[in-house]
Amino acid sequence: MTRDLIGTTVGITGASSGIGAATARALVAEGASVVLGARRVDRLDDLASELGSSAAIVEMDVRIPADSQRLVEEAIGRFGRLDALVVNAGVGAYGGIMDLSDEQIKEMIDTNVSGTLWPIRAAVPGFVEAGGGDIVIVASVAGLRGAGDEAVYAATKFAQVGLAGGLDRELRESGIRVSTICPGGTATEFAMGAGRTPDMPGLADMMSADDVAAAVATVLMQPRSMRTLLWSMRSIHEDD
Ligand SMILES: NC(=O)c1ccc[n+]([C@@H]2O[C@H](COP(=O)([O-])OP(=O)(O)OC[C@H]3O[C@@H](n4cnc5c(N)ncnc54)[C@H](OP(=O)(O)O)[C@@H]3O)[C@@H](O)[C@H]2O)c1
Repeated sequence: MTRDLIGTTVGITGASSGIGAATARALVAEGASVVLGARRVDRLDDLASELGSSAAIVEMDVRIPADSQRLVEEAIGRFGRLDALVVNAGVGAYGGIMDLSDEQIKEMIDTNVSGTLWPIRAAVPGFVEAGGGDIVIVASVAGLRGAGDEAVYAATKFAQVGLAGGLDRELRESGIRVSTICPGGTATEFAMGAGRTPDMPGLADMMSADDVAAAVATVLMQPRSMRTLLWSMRSIHEDD
């Protein structure tokens, strides 16, 4: 029996587009308030206008620890609580190990690995004090198996999956559930110009951001007597 999210507050990183924005819409539809974090504040403003009084925004860069503290502070200041954190911000660039620039490699590691740790470290003390909370990490199928043209991206996503497994063991007894969603190809702005193009074959066959957002909502709506550890999901058209 699932529960609704009325009265809860969820912080979402990478909420300015794609899966993060779709997740915000899905969670507000279930009754949650959301704090939207990302760098493109114009996008966040537009989404917050659409969602009304259930949404607050924080201009933030997940690579900067203090920015994640501000996300948590905004949830407490605006809505009085933080119940869950969706760690979704991420970047990807496709190409072989020698094809990528140093900057692309650094950006993927700083955003996808460090940018996962900082929001979690900002949220955990409050969750422990409250006696529970939820952390949902949007990783990837690339975090479950490597692929030739995305080894570095896969390394960052394996890091997220490993982190989640360890945190589940570390935090479960504090009532904190740690879940990982591993989507396959999803039609968003992700990796556009860095291995994907808007007209690439296959984009139309990918999952939608709404498909993944529904999974995040489902995980959060599970009764607190159970936890989802890892949910791997792919389009019916995607093999391997
Ligand atoms: N699309 C796929 O095929 C796919 C498949 C599996 C997993 N994923 C994962 O899903 C997550 C969301 O990606 P998406 O597909 O929704 O792509 P997207 O539309 O490009 O969204 C990425 C989000 O991350 C944010 N972001 C990137 N760098 C950031 C930074 N330094 N600080 C704060 N926010 C940052 C972006 O916001 P700003 O640029 O405004 O900061 C944007 O909101 C990523 O972790 C990605 O690895 C995607």
